[in-house]
Amino acid sequence: MQKYKAAVIGLSHISQARSPKPSSMPAVQPMPRSHVAAYAAHPQIELVGACDLMPAAFERFNNTWRDVHPNTRLYNDYREMLAQEKPDIVSVITPDDKHADIVVNVANSGVKGIWCEKPIATTLADADRMIEAVERNGVAMTVSHTRRWMPMFHRVRDLVRDKTYGNLKLVTATSYYSRAMMFRNGTHTFDMMCFLADAAPEWVIGELEDGFDGFDRYQGDGGNLISSEPSANAYIKFKNGVRANVLMVKSNNQTNVIELVFDNAVVRLDGSPQIVIHRVDGPPATATKAAIGVTETIGYSDWSADRELAVVTELVHALDTGTVPTISPPRVARTTLSLLLAVLESHAKGNAKVMLG
Ligand SMILES: NC(=O)c1ccc[n+]([C@@H]2O[C@H](COP(=O)([O-])OP(=O)(O)OC[C@H]3O[C@@H](n4cnc5c(N)ncnc54)[C@H](O)[C@@H]3O)[C@@H](O)[C@H]2O)c1
Repeated sequence: MQKYKAAVIGLSHISQARSPKPSSMPAVQPMPRSHVAAYAAHPQIELVGACDLMPAAFERFNNTWRDVHPNTRLYNDYREMLAQEKPDIVSVITPDDKHADIVVNVANSGVKGIWCEKPIATTLADADRMIEAVERNGVAMTVSHTRRWMPMFHRVRDLVRDKTYGNLKLVTATSYYSRAMMFRNGTHTFDMMCFLADAAPEWVIGELEDGFDGFDRYQGDGGNLISSEPSANAYIKFKNGVRANVLMVKSNNQTNVIELVFDNAVVRLDGSPQIVIHRVDGPPATATKAAIGVTETIGYSDWSADRELAVVTELVHALDTGTVPTISPPRVARTTLSLLLAVLESHAKGNAKVMLG
């Protein structure tokens, strides 16, 4: 079994959180929900280095992970870490406006894999130079739109691809919650619209939250501050004819629902581990009102890993086999960013239809 050296740049919560083990199941590890936890859980990975600029981040690492990663060396200069440790895989978990320079330098340093946080960058020019550097160096890079590694979404996309209920016509995503921020959190939703529609976006009409009329550029350095960016509503047409609505409202709810309208069914994902299908028995032309609304609930098979651990599994597979990961490559993440930026442009132009390349 080939072993790989990993290193992380940026030591915040999503980088190094550690979930508590259930006390009643001492032998069972919780599914990792951070980069450092995922590296700890993968048998082919050794975490050799971790880098941040803040002493408090090192203190957190030492308090949280020393029992599991006793030999990980800490750095405050990522270039020095790359030169000393020569890692195979590097995580980039810095604020969004600081992904690009670091990814380009990491790609040029001889690594084989990069796991970059989302959104890929704050501008398309930055995304392009990241893509150029990773492709020129043959690096397998994946962007952390983590819903792409959740089995439920693959089960639903299979319904789309297999035309189980006819053609997909419309996807509606509703995000009513306090952190309904279009880039920080909404990027997951916009990315999932592209994944489920299974096509590239053709055009979008967008509107931003009241009070953000001058918001024509995402700075990406606002961190967790909810007021630093707007929520957004968007109406998207995809190149295969599928339409999508994204409706975001900053409110005290915790509601994230995705509904898909097919010829013969409405499929609903409400955040619980089930897919609810309201289907029509028979072709629409003969369906009676009584037949509409027949409901079934389907489960989905569990995977050995989802989200963060699945990202690492996929990167390790890419390195083992010399292929690049396919679930969230940088070119796909660039499309998601282009959609978010087009919503800003649409709003600035009085909710005009903005064409995507
Ligand atoms: N996948 C998810 O669900 C999820 C959740 C939260 C955050 N994120 C993403 O993770 C990234 C980080 O977000 P955050 O809220 O944790 O940011 P943050 O600002 O809280 O933390 C970033 C850390 O990076 C460090 N840093 C900055 N520049 C550095 C450099 N040059 N070298 C080394 N360290 C450096 C900072 O000191 C800080 O500790 C963002 O891209 C964000 O969108 C993803």
